[in-house]
Amino acid sequence: MLQEVLDSLGSQRRRWLVTGSAGFIGSHLLETLLRAGQQVTSLDNFSTGHRSNLDDVRALVGEQAWASHHFIEGDIADPDTCRRACEGVDVVLHQAALGSVPRSIKDPLATHRSNATGFLNMLFAACDANVKRFVYAASSSTYGDSPTLPKVEDKIGRPLSPYAVTKYVNELYADVFGRCYGIETVGLRYFNVFGPRQDPNGAYAAVIPRWVAEMLRGKRCVINGDGETSRDFCYVANAVQANLRAGLTDNPEAVHQVYNVAVGDRTTLNQLHESIAAALGGLRADLRIQTPEYADFRPGDVRHSLADVSKARRLLGYVPTHNVGAGLREAIGWYVSRAVQPA
Ligand SMILES: NC(=O)c1ccc[n+]([C@@H]2O[C@H](COP(=O)([O-])OP(=O)(O)OC[C@H]3O[C@@H](n4cnc5c(N)ncnc54)[C@H](O)[C@@H]3O)[C@@H](O)[C@H]2O)c1
Repeated sequence: MLQEVLDSLGSQRRRWLVTGSAGFIGSHLLETLLRAGQQVTSLDNFSTGHRSNLDDVRALVGEQAWASHHFIEGDIADPDTCRRACEGVDVVLHQAALGSVPRSIKDPLATHRSNATGFLNMLFAACDANVKRFVYAASSSTYGDSPTLPKVEDKIGRPLSPYAVTKYVNELYADVFGRCYGIETVGLRYFNVFGPRQDPNGAYAAVIPRWVAEMLRGKRCVINGDGETSRDFCYVANAVQANLRAGLTDNPEAVHQVYNVAVGDRTTLNQLHESIAAALGGLRADLRIQTPEYADFRPGDVRHSLADVSKARRLLGYVPTHNVGAGLREAIGWYVSRAVQPA
């Protein structure tokens, strides 16, 4: 994290609400805010998040900082829970949602409940509680079938999955709530975020933690398609930086906006497989990593994804500190020590 962002955080003690705090990105936001001496309410229903992520944060920040944290176990589909969570809050960092395109294709109602209804409940509760700023996790999936590369915020296509619909609906509601009720909103379109505490298990695990876990178990990784599909993989420290900058900015032009949050660099799945294998090989010389297996393309997946991050750079001062290689090097030790379950 850039020191300058932490310094501006430390100059004033605010109350933040982090939703989805038992999940991957939410737990990193919680950790950074508590380390910086902030007061944090956080909320999660443990649908995809884990108590162990909260335990990890507690161990990392220490008991004194942890005492500034108030956790609510609850569901954002319940408006009363959202109202309770927003009490006395200055800035909301809304992360709670059901991720995964395939999950949304299998169960669009569950995705809609958390991602659309839950989002609206949170936004409405934040307005009611006079929260000043509402920063929320949007998604690169909003670019849908737009062929334009790199992706620029104001050129989107048609959504390719129920998940993408919910994330676009978030942006529409945020924009309209700004106009109708005056709440300041900032949407962050994350591009394939990765790092420690990202769940490696289950049918809907993201590609990096899943492949690391499979390589460590000596299994062949499955690549959907020909391996030339590409993504702008973004280390979690970059996403945390974007959230804090969005929560803290006093530039009036920077609010009521959505931003790409990525590195601005594209990696194919074939290259990613090689990079993970190399990073793991550096740590575990005994490991025999198998060549990948190729399967069908997945429905709803976009072929290429690459962000133009100049808008976030210009209006928020966002400067990604980690490219995919640096992120992998930082995260790989965690994956090796923590992410492996017995085969
Ligand atoms: N990780 C990525 O690459 C990525 C990319 C684009 C967008 N996003 C978005 O970023 C946010 C965080 O993603 P993540 O990767 O940390 O996922 P995650 O699954 O690790 O975290 C989401 C958290 O939200 C909680 N949650 C879900 N539904 C809830 C509900 N109804 N009530 C209360 N809590 C609920 C889950 O239990 C979980 O702890 C999500 O909104 C996701 O859509 C993530």
